Amino acid sequence: MGPLKVASLFCGCGGLDLGLIGGFEYLNKQYAKHPAEIVYAVDFDPYPCSIYNENFEHKCHTEDITKVNSSDIPPHHILIGGFPCQSFSVVAQNPPRLGYKDIKGQLFFEMVRILKERKPAMFIAENVKGILSANQGQAFPLILESFRNAGYHVTYTLLNSSDFGIPQKRERVFIVGIRDKKTFENFKFPTPVTPKEKIPLSRVVLNEHDVCEKYYFSDKAIEGMIKAKDKMNKGRAQNLDAPCNTISAHLSKASLNSVDPVLYINNKYRRFTPLEAARIQSFPDDFIFSGSDTRNYRAIGNAVPPVLIWHVSDALFKAVKSFNNQIFQTELYKTDPEKRSYNMSQIKSKNTKIELKLRKALWNKGYRYRVCPKDLFGKPDIAFPSHKLAIFCDSAFWHGKKLDETVEKIKTNHEYWSDKIMKNKVRDDKVNDYLTKSGWTVLRFWDDEINYNLENCIKNIEDHIKLPLKKAA
Ligand SMILES: C[S@@+](CC[C@H](N)C(=O)[O-])C[C@H]1O[C@@H](n2cnc3c(N)ncnc32)[C@H](O)[C@@H]1O
Repeated sequence: MGPLKVASLFCGCGGLDLGLIGGFEYLNKQYAKHPAEIVYAVDFDPYPCSIYNENFEHKCHTEDITKVNSSDIPPHHILIGGFPCQSFSVVAQNPPRLGYKDIKGQLFFEMVRILKERKPAMFIAENVKGILSANQGQAFPLILESFRNAGYHVTYTLLNSSDFGIPQKRERVFIVGIRDKKTFENFKFPTPVTPKEKIPLSRVVLNEHDVCEKYYFSDKAIEGMIKAKDKMNKGRAQNLDAPCNTISAHLSKASLNSVDPVLYINNKYRRFTPLEAARIQSFPDDFIFSGSDTRNYRAIGNAVPPVLIWHVSDALFKAVKSFNNQIFQTELYKTDPEKRSYNMSQIKSKNTKIELKLRKALWNKGYRYRVCPKDLFGKPDIAFPSHKLAIFCDSAFWHGKKLDETVEKIKTNHEYWSDKIMKNKVRDDKVNDYLTKSGWTVLRFWDDEINYNLENCIKNIEDHIKLPLKKAA
């Protein structure tokens, strides 16, 4: 099985993407590379995009997904996306939790749109736990139904990062959709790998000597917090011997009067450094976060923990590999056969506009000829049998005038169409060969020659005719 092609929506800094591809080390464990390659990634925020671009060979597009035409996304087997979660998060009460009634809460429809239009074999969507209860429990069934209506068998689960070797109690919902029923039946979400022996926060906390002064809270902030603490549950110093509470995108604003997790070590309160935050999210230490602290915290807090998604995608790749991988060689991302045959029927191979134009011009000059003679190999578009002259009017696209350029431009069903063009080219050569060997002269005109230089084409035809052509009476 060759690498499966992946398109990533709302890619952020790439936590989901890294976990899906695999091939990294975290806390002395290797997370094997999966047979996958990202062919497209998009996010409309330039800051996480620049982090993304420093860490992946392919580059992400900085665009609003609602403005992206699905045909501009290259063919792919898997669509992934952690669609924006603010509208569903129980933490996000200000603005209130509007769920799917909020414009941001409707962005999952963008995933649904791409699924409907591009029909990849499967998808993985990720979101916060709050999505299960948003809109009095009405949002989630609607989301699942929309994915089902797009043509997928759909399943979901709630996973806790701390069950998968990550020192954070982050709970996230994963929705997996697979078009092929048998592969779907073969898929099982991963079971916890560290159900009892959780990884403690201390595993990823830096030595205090290595922590810059700016990460410590001032005495004033501590006094304020101590006064308020009796009344409110604030100053959430984390237990170093257990996984950390969920970290959020607001980590840069973590204060002692907020609910954000902080550290209390050697009688001093401090926030996490960006490196610690990245480790809490299970990014490997060689993942580059070169932005400002604020931007790094934001991208990190928004990310899907790579190790967590590695386990989910590992289960998906196992389901595919062990059971039904031929779906990746045949049906994938191709237009369904019914639509394709309709599309094909719309493409004329006989009596095309350029053929009609050339014939009409010749006719008006008084020349008479045969049209697509069945008894002549290759059925030329125009034939002058008495002069043994065969003429073909070729579309530059279908007959591969500039093959490399043409193939590069094909956005949908790439393999199918490029294969077709290649075959046309091979057939053209064969026809030329056969006819010339049989004593015929073969002339081929490209569509732009006929469209923009018709007189030249006629002259060329006349030059090849030694005897005067039979004119109409
Ligand atoms: C939860 S984060 C995704 C994090 C990412 N999956 C990761 O693992 O690193 C959601 C992302 O959606 C992006 N986003 C929100 N609305 C968008 C839109 N209309 N078009 C493109 N990206 C959008 C945000 O900039 C944010 O980076």
